[in-house]
Amino acid sequence: MCGIVGYVGRENAREIIIDGLKRLEYRGYDSAGIAVVQNGKILLRKHVGGIANLENLIGDDPMTSGTGIGHTRWATHGAPSDLNAHPHLNGDGTIAVVHNGIIENYVELKEMLVRDHGVVFRSETDTEVIAHLIGVHYNGDLENAVYEAVSEMRGAYAISVIAAAEPEKIVAVRKDAPLIAGLGQGCNFIASDIPALLKYVKEIYLIENNEMVVLTPDSVKIYDENRQEVHRDVFHVTWDADAAEKEGYDHFMLKEIYEQPKGLYETLTRRLNEDGTIKLDGISMTKEEIEGFTKIYIVACGTAYHAGLVGKYIIEKLAKVPVEVDVASEFRYRDPFVDDKTLFIAISQSGETLDTLAALREAKRKGARVLSVVNVVGSSVARESDDVFYTWAGPEIAVASTKAYTTQLMCMYLIGLHMGYVRGTINREYYDQFIADLMTIPDKLKDCLAKNAGIIEGLSKMLYNKEQVFFIGRGLDSSVSYEGSLKLKEISYINSFAIAAGELKHGTIALMEPGTLVVTLATQDFLYEKMLSNIQEVKARGAHVLSIAKEGNTAIEAHSNEVIYIPACRDEITPLLSVVPLQLFAYYVAKERGCNIDKPKNLAKSVTVE
Ligand code: F6R
Repeated sequence: MCGIVGYVGRENAREIIIDGLKRLEYRGYDSAGIAVVQNGKILLRKHVGGIANLENLIGDDPMTSGTGIGHTRWATHGAPSDLNAHPHLNGDGTIAVVHNGIIENYVELKEMLVRDHGVVFRSETDTEVIAHLIGVHYNGDLENAVYEAVSEMRGAYAISVIAAAEPEKIVAVRKDAPLIAGLGQGCNFIASDIPALLKYVKEIYLIENNEMVVLTPDSVKIYDENRQEVHRDVFHVTWDADAAEKEGYDHFMLKEIYEQPKGLYETLTRRLNEDGTIKLDGISMTKEEIEGFTKIYIVACGTAYHAGLVGKYIIEKLAKVPVEVDVASEFRYRDPFVDDKTLFIAISQSGETLDTLAALREAKRKGARVLSVVNVVGSSVARESDDVFYTWAGPEIAVASTKAYTTQLMCMYLIGLHMGYVRGTINREYYDQFIADLMTIPDKLKDCLAKNAGIIEGLSKMLYNKEQVFFIGRGLDSSVSYEGSLKLKEISYINSFAIAAGELKHGTIALMEPGTLVVTLATQDFLYEKMLSNIQEVKARGAHVLSIAKEGNTAIEAHSNEVIYIPACRDEITPLLSVVPLQLFAYYVAKERGCNIDKPKNLAKSVTVE
């Protein structure tokens, strides 16, 4: 997804901006560009493709200015191309703009600019409209021109702007797209994401919606939409740039798979009081509210949605409240039954997924109490929620989500346990035992990784060339099979499909052929026999069966080509373990197929468009 980096100071802005853009590469992008103010002019360089292309284009150009903005673009309006890449300039090239998001009324603004101001457009982007709009309002005061322009714009945006006539200034505005300002010594920074700036600064301002930030080498001032200066507390970033490096693993995805025991341990223990009860920091929901909920919606996208599927199962079981799980892009358009007795749970790693954010706002508008499960501290979803349960996964760089998913699951268990205990649907003994069982998971997961990674790598070398793969399971295993299937397809590009095992015979089984790979999950003791029957159904049609089962449940071996065992544990918490062999399988298959694992094609880490 698009990334913004800007610098104003006394160093060479180009070098710092290019370095920052590289640190945002993980977000996915299709072109990159940079503009600096130099000798009263704007110098612009932009190129389709990777940042290396941009660096080649810049070559030995004397871009030595201390003020500039840069961008990595992920196409929304107009195909990836040199012309559509950001920054964009106004007509006489005196204003440069980079933009993340979408300007919804860009067509009408474009018509107005052509009709009333004779503007000639060079690109197909909505962003170019912003540059011209600021240009027509500009009379030597960049803040004023930007204020005038944004008052005419509708949509979601984070923009950063420089002007040839104001060489030591960057003006940036945020509305529904992330933006931060980094505070340096004799220099300041603007960026869409913290990792872009970690090498340079640890102190930042989180810019809020509808705020403008004005940066010079010696000051950072934030203004609200009424042009009043606002005070902002400094946010100290506690993780360093190293946390965002691969630490010896071949890929970020593998590193992040191995970070799951730690992430789970942190997510669990940071939420526990000394007496073993769940700590409610950041949660202001009262006992009466929890007792009064008549319905819960869990809303999210992709992998986070799959965590919601497990959440439904757990919360319904523990707290005895009906839970509906919905993909965020559907929820907001179907007039859901939400009222003040509804709890809305948003799950999001990035906290910036626009569909999830829009669904959250719709639920709020209808009176729901909003609890979010978020990984990125200070993100939009977190800020707009009544209560936040943070996952302690740390920065997730690989586009394919792994440790965010398992830590989201951990939050589902904690939320279910807390609500169940408060509502009196589980007793203290059950609650304590459940938490004790969760405490065993980090070590069991280490064990599972140590025992299985080599086996799965070997299996992948044998199975990597399958054209389609099915994932089946029952109950919680069915929810996990959706995640296993998504992992495989998104990084290996194999056509994979997940279906509840009992549903297979109602149509999909028609696709079984000799050699078809079926990954079966059979970790639920009470459904084990039923799963064995489903496995026999596909085996009878010649399927190659790779099964995941609990240690000790060896009857499955008679019906499977291979079995991967996860450590034994109570049925309800197997998803925390069973998903890991599936993540490893996707990883090693994609590696065998020579895929770009950390940056799969067509995908972005943070999806901030609808
Ligand atoms: C898949 C993946 C995506 C995200 C989805 C939601 O591996 O990463 O499906 O889970 O785009 O993103 P967040 O959790 O940031 O809202």
